[in-house]
Amino acid sequence: MKFFLIGYMGSGKSTVGKLLSEELNYKFYDLDQEIEKEYDLTISEIFSRKGEVFFRKAERKMLDKLINLEEDAVVSLGGGTPCYGDNMELIKSSDTVRSIYLKLNIQTLLERLQREKTERPMISHLQTRELLEEFIRKHLFERGFYYNQSELILDCNGKDPSVIVHNLMENLR
Ligand code: S3P
Repeated sequence: MKFFLIGYMGSGKSTVGKLLSEELNYKFYDLDQEIEKEYDLTISEIFSRKGEVFFRKAERKMLDKLINLEEDAVVSLGGGTPCYGDNMELIKSSDTVRSIYLKLNIQTLLERLQREKTERPMISHLQTRELLEEFIRKHLFERGFYYNQSELILDCNGKDPSVIVHNLMENLR
């Protein structure tokens, strides 16, 4: 079985994924980190040197690879992974993948992304808090269509990663 963590940038997919994998004693994969290893470039460098279309193709290839893993694993996807091509259909159609949406409200995402935006090519150009908020609002609205197709949707507002993992362990039994 593989648990795929889905959610907007800053929703804690990597932190929660790592903790959940330790709790389950499963291997942990972070899709973005796997791409960075493969190309020996950071995600920001891939966007700036090769462009977003190249990144989305690499993301799809890595998604295929992770869906076909034959070991138990927890996998953190990128924020955009379920929203391109037929990626979400592919995730849903696999018998060995369970998808989990880590859902956070705009205010919480805004606070986190305001602090962490430099590493994220989708939002690093947004100069003011107002522009970032407007971007997240629109983007999350569009992406919600995909995220909400996850098998489990967990409200993560105001919860520490350890509480989220505890909630997941209860829900995934
Ligand atoms: C992206 C999210 C990022 C990364 C890339 C694109 C997106 O992952 O895959 O910068 O389109 O939302 P995180 O959600 O881990 O920041």
